[in-house]
Amino acid sequence: MTQFNDTELTAAVIQSFDRTPDPRTKFLLQELVKSLHDYVRRTDLTFGEWEVAIDFLTRTGQKCTPIRQEFILLSDVLGVSMLVDAVNHREREGATQTTVLGPFYVGEHPVMAHGADISPGLTGERMFVQSRVTDLDGKPLAGVPVDIWHADDDGFYDSQKASYATQGPSSRARFITDSDGRLFFRTILPCSYPIPTDGPAGDLVLKTGRHPMRPAHVHFLVAAPGYEPLITHVFIEGDEYLDSDVVFGVKDDLIATVENRSDAFMPDGQPATGPWHLMTYNFRMKPGEGTVPQPMMPEKAEA
Ligand code: BEZ
Ligand code: FE
Repeated sequence: MTQFNDTELTAAVIQSFDRTPDPRTKFLLQELVKSLHDYVRRTDLTFGEWEVAIDFLTRTGQKCTPIRQEFILLSDVLGVSMLVDAVNHREREGATQTTVLGPFYVGEHPVMAHGADISPGLTGERMFVQSRVTDLDGKPLAGVPVDIWHADDDGFYDSQKASYATQGPSSRARFITDSDGRLFFRTILPCSYPIPTDGPAGDLVLKTGRHPMRPAHVHFLVAAPGYEPLITHVFIEGDEYLDSDVVFGVKDDLIATVENRSDAFMPDGQPATGPWHLMTYNFRMKPGEGTVPQPMMPEKAEA
């Protein structure tokens, strides 16, 4: 019978993957074994601690549904999502910075006409958003789908609320850039909000004395053919959590000054109903390609 000491054990497990047909998969698995074994050795992991970890991962999986991704949330709060983002976007000179997709890219993103209100009936301070999509030289990119989603004034996404099943998307839409690369819409000013804390990822944050807050932002996913898909947020200047985002997603270039306005008319010439905010942010796309993530879809009700 073959018996291993702990270093030989690591070598044997690495070797057990030697015949993996795909070289990249083989590399990833062997590196994973190295890192996991190193962790166990460095920490002298006890059986009790190993059981806690297994139970934690089990509960993380059990919390997932077609529209709730607790593993992405865990990756986010551990900084893994931003690290994957960083190693995949080392060269972005002149292009808009990227950040996490987050777990709320879910459900339908209905195509709306420019100027539409994507948050009708929601309480909150009114905001007009105007944007332009260009290449690195400033040439406008027309006909580009831009998905938008953000939290409401209570800090919840539509998909977190029971009303999603009956009322459908809210503060969530798709715009197609016009011939000048522009898009514009009405919504409410998002506020900072806590990530979901009713599952293992949020529990981890709270039990380790961290706060669960994300600074206020609007999500954008710009998918222009011939350009790298741009997954990003625009953050709102002045937010108290910009320096301590629970998912480490803030980049200076993504912070926008949102102006307080009292003009009677908004930039599209339509009347304002009171004071409003103006967010202006333009996106510069990097030539290339990439996989455009699809929103997670809720399960369809039985017909
Ligand atoms: C979000 O911005 O929607 C988000 C990102 C990461 C974790 C939780 C929420
Ligand atoms: Fe968000």
